[in-house]
Amino acid sequence: MSILVTGATGQIGSELTLELRKRYGGDQVIAAGHRKPASSALASSGPFVSLDVANRDALVRVIRDHKIEAVYHLAAVLSATGEQSPQRAWEVNVNGLYNLLELAREGGIGQIFHPSSIAVFGPRTPRDHTPQDTVLSPTTMYGVTKVTGELLCDYYAHRYGLDIRGLRYPGIISSETPPGGGTTDYAVEMFYYAVEGKPYTCFVRDNTMLPMMYMPDCLQSAIDLMEASCARLRSRTYNITAMSFTAAELAAEIRKHVPGFRVEYAPDFRQAIADSWPRSIDDSAARSDWGWKPRYGLPEMTTEMLAALAQRHAAGCLYPAT
Ligand SMILES: NC(=O)c1ccc[n+]([C@@H]2O[C@H](COP(=O)([O-])OP(=O)(O)OC[C@H]3O[C@@H](n4cnc5c(N)ncnc54)[C@H](O)[C@@H]3O)[C@@H](O)[C@H]2O)c1
Repeated sequence: MSILVTGATGQIGSELTLELRKRYGGDQVIAAGHRKPASSALASSGPFVSLDVANRDALVRVIRDHKIEAVYHLAAVLSATGEQSPQRAWEVNVNGLYNLLELAREGGIGQIFHPSSIAVFGPRTPRDHTPQDTVLSPTTMYGVTKVTGELLCDYYAHRYGLDIRGLRYPGIISSETPPGGGTTDYAVEMFYYAVEGKPYTCFVRDNTMLPMMYMPDCLQSAIDLMEASCARLRSRTYNITAMSFTAAELAAEIRKHVPGFRVEYAPDFRQAIADSWPRSIDDSAARSDWGWKPRYGLPEMTTEMLAALAQRHAAGCLYPAT
């Protein structure tokens, strides 16, 4: 099976590509990056191409040249960056997806993974234990593009019989590639500052609670969903989560390992985005339909994150060159 990963140099793509290559073979997984160069691990473990997903002709070339059968479509402009340039967010997130769906309609692509986000929810959505089927009232362009993406995927699946699967990811925390301009980036940044022994100024209030997930669970959930038997799936896009904590609770957990770690709180425009998102998520449908079960909670994740970053810090390469 020939697999394409778009957005492969991003926070999730850089690790998902390597995981897929371990599973299906290096040559079978084509990593497509945009502006950033491939890391040495990405470049040495399999094919790498440059691709702007908003450019339909370029997408056609990559898919035809590599006889692509499945796509993990991760290319996107995230929530905070999207508020700086809503037009670009629409162009990449909606037009890029539309280009891909149109190519799939023409034949050849058997399966598409399209990550959605808790950003599809909004101020009119219940904020605790947010159900899968509920009010979608996003206030960011990112959220608008994710709701549009979910609807487009539903339409193409029903109308043209395409196999498209999606997850509404919460904030993803990882140690390898820094996050790309989302509202939950503070949860990753806090770890980097703690390891460097620097105080951190957090861009949301201390009592801001959001749902989160550690990268190994993020990768596992995407692969498990794509490998699940069609017969078990009763939804196209699933709510999914692993843990919820406030910014202050995260700082306190880090302090158990790094005593004296100081955090100040100076909310900026991202506070309003965070305030419009759920505090916790009901992912019972994912658990019952295809067996979703996260491995990491806050203590386990904190221990692993700090160990991974401390090791890189000691080696003088805390910030990877991806
Ligand atoms: N990281 C999270 O916390 C999170 C949470 C929910 C959903 N998601 C979703 O998961 C997916 C991957 O997110 P991520 O965190 O890896 O994001 P990221 O910003 O780290 O990576 C996205 C990648 O897309 C690329 N890109 C931007 N414009 C492009 C274009 N025109 N053509 C091709 N590539 C382009 C960027 O260069 C970047 O490498 C996205 O769909 C995102 O919405 C992420």
